[in-house]
Amino acid sequence: MTNDVLIMRGVTREYAVGGPFAKKKTLKALRGIDLTVSRGQTLGLVGESGCGKSTLAKILLGVEEPTAGIVLVDGRPLNSYDRLERAKLIQPVFQDPYSSLNPRMTVEAIISAPLAVRGVGTRVSRRKRVEELAAEVGLPRHLVDAYPSQLSGGQRQRVAIARALIGEPKILICDEPTSALDVSVQSQILNLLHRLKQELNLTMILISHNLAVVHHLADEVAVMYLGQIVERGPSEEIFERPHHPYTDALLKAVLIPRPGSRLPDLGLQAEFPSPLNPPSGCAFHPRCPYAQADCSRIAPATRGEQRSYRCHYPLNLVEASLTSAAS
Ligand SMILES: Nc1ncnc2c1ncn2[C@@H]1O[C@H](COP(=O)(O)OP(=O)(O)O)[C@@H](O)[C@H]1O
Ligand SMILES: [Mg+2]
Repeated sequence: MTNDVLIMRGVTREYAVGGPFAKKKTLKALRGIDLTVSRGQTLGLVGESGCGKSTLAKILLGVEEPTAGIVLVDGRPLNSYDRLERAKLIQPVFQDPYSSLNPRMTVEAIISAPLAVRGVGTRVSRRKRVEELAAEVGLPRHLVDAYPSQLSGGQRQRVAIARALIGEPKILICDEPTSALDVSVQSQILNLLHRLKQELNLTMILISHNLAVVHHLADEVAVMYLGQIVERGPSEEIFERPHHPYTDALLKAVLIPRPGSRLPDLGLQAEFPSPLNPPSGCAFHPRCPYAQADCSRIAPATRGEQRSYRCHYPLNLVEASLTSAAS
């Protein structure tokens, strides 16, 4: 069996948008995503709001179907698994632990629901498993009988993580798991995910608009822009030597924190473009400080394998040509 748990090839998702009387337009939320995730690895998926991160998560969770392309989990097309099988493949942890937990259920009922639905075990054995998991995710034991309203945001997110883990899914998808939490709690949840990843050898997709959030957890990072992956590679390499000017801008935004701003201020010229009307050529060219004339005409192909990027003038090559010109 291959070690690639997840393979996505050419995954595209289009939405028809516009009112009942207006002419329908096509919004391309994902434009040909290629991704591979190996067992036990964490993939960090980063990019500004609107670039398609949650759409990708929804496709993996089976909430949305791709309009084109293929998704394989353990070598089998995702849509060939039935609903119950799917629940054992991929489990989510969402951004907002306030709206994602049923307020009328106790913590025990919430965490054990995935097992209860499938009729796995007895009430007593499920209770035992919930208590073990509560300990594993750092939730005080007495809170197992509490309701979500009695918990803090961080405790709720621990419940969401325990619920996601109870069925031992092949992949855990965390979509902005800390962005709704206080700054002081964010690092606790990230540390918890880090420990679980090591102890349970989890395969994880960690989605964030903030590169700093994925830095310590991700083995590999994929940077998304307007529905495409523009750069991908081992986490340390992406952080130390970004090749794509967009990755570089995201990194600089992390280094210069702007208090009060939840989204990174990229310090780039133009605003994030509309996916209804993506720029010609390289979609990043209107905001790119290094853009040349051909960037607006020719869409760059993906170059490289393990370390790949989609750019005509990547920073590594620009630097190399400057050094050779100087010598
Ligand atoms: N159900 C939908 N119908 C129409 N457009 C959508 C729908 N879901 C998402 N989009 C659009 O797709 C793009 C990507 O959205 P999303 O995946 O939520 O981005 P992200 O999670 O990176 O912020 C956005 O322009 C968004 O408005
Ligand atoms: Mg999102």
